[in-house]
Amino acid sequence: MAFEGRIGHLEGIESPWGNAGGVVKTVRDVELMARTGVGWIEAGSYTLEPREGNGSHGEKVYHHAHGSTFNSLGMPNEGMDEVETQIPEMIEIAHAHHKPLVVNVAPVTDKPAEESVELVRRAYAAGADAVLLNAGCPNVVTEDGGRHELLSCNPIELGRVLVELTLQGIERPLFVRTSPQASVDDTLRLGAVMRMTGNVSAVFTPNTWPVRIPKTGRGPMLDVPGDTCGMSGPSVADAAYDQTVWMTEALQGNGVDVVSSSGIMTAGELQARLDLGAVAGAGTTFYFESQNWQGDTDRLLSDLVS
Ligand SMILES: Cc1cc2nc3c(=O)[nH]c(=O)nc-3n(C[C@H](O)[C@H](O)[C@H](O)COP(=O)(O)O)c2cc1C
Repeated sequence: MAFEGRIGHLEGIESPWGNAGGVVKTVRDVELMARTGVGWIEAGSYTLEPREGNGSHGEKVYHHAHGSTFNSLGMPNEGMDEVETQIPEMIEIAHAHHKPLVVNVAPVTDKPAEESVELVRRAYAAGADAVLLNAGCPNVVTEDGGRHELLSCNPIELGRVLVELTLQGIERPLFVRTSPQASVDDTLRLGAVMRMTGNVSAVFTPNTWPVRIPKTGRGPMLDVPGDTCGMSGPSVADAAYDQTVWMTEALQGNGVDVVSSSGIMTAGELQARLDLGAVAGAGTTFYFESQNWQGDTDRLLSDLVS
């Protein structure tokens, strides 16, 4: 199906490809991404408090080899107090290039509903064209070296967060990024929650797979506490394809769009996700591995139409 220029409630999108989370954080990043052919710019994840991330002292938190990406960046960002002052400039730059700005916010404490209400409200108040709730980062390290629970693997808690947004008067719809689901039934349950609350207009999926940090003869590939990281890249393309099938089935006919991610590096893979019913696709490894965002995006999009 031809791209209709819309993702959920967001209209006027010129191409069915965008950057996924973790690529664009600063005003400078927005400037660089704005020069490419992406249909929208996703900025974030941003959290309420500033986060150094897991690599602030030079630790290795990203590794890409043989088609697999392992990351444990831990969402470094300046925190909402600072970011909300930057969003108006980001918007101005994005709009000058005819692109909407999607602001990605992530709750990281054990009070995700309260935190999400504040983050979503502030991001919209600062001018975001759409707010994306990251309900699936596997890289928030807890004090005991474990990992924060994935909101999108707990449909009841995610439902509570979504209902609370409405109860607190946030009427604008939002996007949600979900983690890979263990089964089609789990996906149907999660999809049902996101349909029923009525305030999700698009689901961006799947996020990275939580996996054990691989070890080489020289030790772990990443240098972070605990043994979990997120896996993505082209080696997960088949599994991400299946996740997209499940989520499109779960949301079909309910007016909630799916944007597919994980493992999209070529026009062929992007087209395969669109053929499943995803309205668009997005990539992070694509940009982390690119030396030329503009040239590589142009190539992907011209391959897509040829
Ligand atoms: C290095 C890296 C950093 C990421 N950071 C974020 C983030 O801050 N927020 C978010 O919502 N998703 C983040 N993601 C997940 C992507 O948004 C997306 O869901 C997907 O896993 C990207 O797959 P790909 O790397 O194969 O393109 C990150 C992924 C990677 C690889």
